[in-house]
Amino acid sequence: MSAAIGPASARRSLTTMKSKSIMTTLTVKVKQIQQQALDIKSFLLVGPEGGALPAFTPGSHIDVHVGAGLVRQYSLCNGPGERDGYLIAVKREPESRGGSRGMHALQEGDAIAISAPRNNFALDPSARRHVLLGGGIGITPLLSMAQHLQAGNASFELHYFSRSAAHTAFHSLLSGPELKDRVTLNHGFDPDALRAYLQRLLGQRADGAHLYFCGPQAFMELIASCAAPSWPPDSVHLEYFAADPAALAGPQQEFRIRLAKSGATYAIPAGVPITEVLAAHGCAIETSCEQGVCGTCLTGVLDGVPDHRDVYLTDAEKSAGNKILPCVSRAKTALLVLDL
Ligand code: FES
Repeated sequence: MSAAIGPASARRSLTTMKSKSIMTTLTVKVKQIQQQALDIKSFLLVGPEGGALPAFTPGSHIDVHVGAGLVRQYSLCNGPGERDGYLIAVKREPESRGGSRGMHALQEGDAIAISAPRNNFALDPSARRHVLLGGGIGITPLLSMAQHLQAGNASFELHYFSRSAAHTAFHSLLSGPELKDRVTLNHGFDPDALRAYLQRLLGQRADGAHLYFCGPQAFMELIASCAAPSWPPDSVHLEYFAADPAALAGPQQEFRIRLAKSGATYAIPAGVPITEVLAAHGCAIETSCEQGVCGTCLTGVLDGVPDHRDVYLTDAEKSAGNKILPCVSRAKTALLVLDL
């Protein structure tokens, strides 16, 4: 859910939770796997004894422990009140580092560990209209939002962009009787056609409207640029589902970190994450995605200038310089003092 796009300004949601994540894991069973589109499978996860799973709000995601040391975040696609099973969808990525490959290897009946839901991409309760834009597998949190908004009789529209009908996940649900009047399915747009569409759609903002979007990096960047003239930052909400390869590949120099509480100072060699050095010295920070996407490892910075490589903090938060995602980010100064 990726570089420094220019949500220069966008914030993630009123209910953004940037606290340490809940470590509790639940073991669930894969009850049903369905092919939702080319390369996209959905997984219905239920408690081993049945019964209600922890409550969630639209836009929530869960951590899925795909394999040893491999944790990935997937948005819940569920409608309101659907606590008897979490529905997630995963696209098989050709460049998978194990996450989507591991998910697509699952069989019905397999057990898998997950976290309770967390929400970094919540609907804004003050919005008078909601405009939802999903690209590719980025439809998943928006599908949950759409079903909740529909059930609440809220004012909304959903625009879904995919390569073709065969690449359109949850096609039957999105084109079914409950949602079809609010959903526009778009296939095969080239970048110019997409820009023109977005400029038409976002050129004017209805009073009280809020914008939510999720999808591939180029898609997100384009939406952010089309929205910037008319949509104030606090009306724009977004979620990345992947790291920013360009930021991660940025220059790597050695620097030092100091832990404020103990005064311990450690060298962070080029190419080695802060979290890895800290763990080696017995000061493990909780992590999840290890890609700068989920916010789990968020840590305070008391001195020095972070070199942000994540897609979690907004541009304003990055400029403030008092927080860092140490699983990927580094330092622009020789020393960084962390609030640890
Ligand atoms: S562990 Fe996910 S942002 Fe650091």
